[in-house]
Amino acid sequence: MTLCTTTVCVTGAAGFIGSWLVMRLLERGYVVRATVRDPGNLKKVKHLLELPKADTNLTLWRADLTEEGSFDEAIEGCHGVFHVATPMDFESKDPENEIIKPTVAGVLGIIKSCAKANTVKRLIFTSSAGTVNVQENQLPVYDESNWSDLDFIYSKKMTAWMYFVSKTLAEKAAWEAAKENNIDFISIIPTLVVGPFINPTFPPSLITALSLILGKEAHYSIIEQGQFVHIDDLCESHIFLYEDPKAEGRYICSSHDATIYQLAKMIKEKWPEYNIPTELKGIDKELPVICFSSKKLMGLGFKFKYSLEDMFRGAIETCREKGLLPLSTA
Ligand SMILES: NC(=O)c1ccc[n+]([C@@H]2O[C@H](COP(=O)([O-])OP(=O)(O)OC[C@H]3O[C@@H](n4cnc5c(N)ncnc54)[C@H](OP(=O)(O)O)[C@@H]3O)[C@@H](O)[C@H]2O)c1
Repeated sequence: MTLCTTTVCVTGAAGFIGSWLVMRLLERGYVVRATVRDPGNLKKVKHLLELPKADTNLTLWRADLTEEGSFDEAIEGCHGVFHVATPMDFESKDPENEIIKPTVAGVLGIIKSCAKANTVKRLIFTSSAGTVNVQENQLPVYDESNWSDLDFIYSKKMTAWMYFVSKTLAEKAAWEAAKENNIDFISIIPTLVVGPFINPTFPPSLITALSLILGKEAHYSIIEQGQFVHIDDLCESHIFLYEDPKAEGRYICSSHDATIYQLAKMIKEKWPEYNIPTELKGIDKELPVICFSSKKLMGLGFKFKYSLEDMFRGAIETCREKGLLPLSTA
């Protein structure tokens, strides 16, 4: 087995974040092994195969989080692994088996694959804000020392509860397994990721981000007191933390905080063609913002480039270009 210093594996590579990350890695000259569940499904992978440098530096590998040992081949010989894949069906009828178990078993399997390969310098795990602040009483500021309250999540079963459980259990289990297996492990905690995209379907997080336009009231609770990051800033932070030898532990990656009313005001001003509600039933107008602090990430020298307006402009324009969003609802 030869160690290629620039070969990295990206799991969930065809998804919203995965495909943008693959694009940025290829631009940097990395050789990328992209894992997807069905490499033969051209509809799902065409956007990857068409990326600049894909013909020389990209290969597709079949791997599934529900199958033990599935990632061994793709990871063998890699220098770095970005574990981005996760099941995201918030309407699952069997959340335990479809969401929670595959997420936890998946990251543990990937840690095993990294240990077997013996070539992996660092494993970057895309965690979630859902591991940090899902609890009864909200703090004004969250940092990497905070963890969500699983008892509270199970008692409330709010929208996306199974996703919050899956990511919290997965990240906790991963910290232990990485330590046991001597794997250099970093977790990145993005808040709601918003921006343009190259994958063909409506990204799950944009259903939440654009819920005021789409009228998806069930998603309002997630952005009542929301935090946001641009997809490009997030993917750049993945590469930044992979490359910085001083990086260690968890890193929140979030650039903006806004309440749902502040967000509604911005969307209304910038896109008056959409019918945005001004009164939201059951949501207090005076809610304070809750901040997710990226101080630790910025302390290493990382700089965020995008505004909240940039995030929504990118998302709305891409959705319109792909015919996924009407031009107007007013
Ligand atoms: N978007 C956000 O706002 C946000 C915020 C915080 C954290 N995150 C994290 O970011 C990561 C990527 O999210 P995303 O927004 O890019 O979602 P996404 O577009 O749904 O991508 C997730 C990918 O995971 C793959 N996947 C699902 N089940 C799988 C399984 N059983 N085995 C292997 N792969 C499987 C899917 O791959 P196929 O192509 O094979 O179907 C899909 O492309 C996740 O870990 C998520 O927790 C996202």
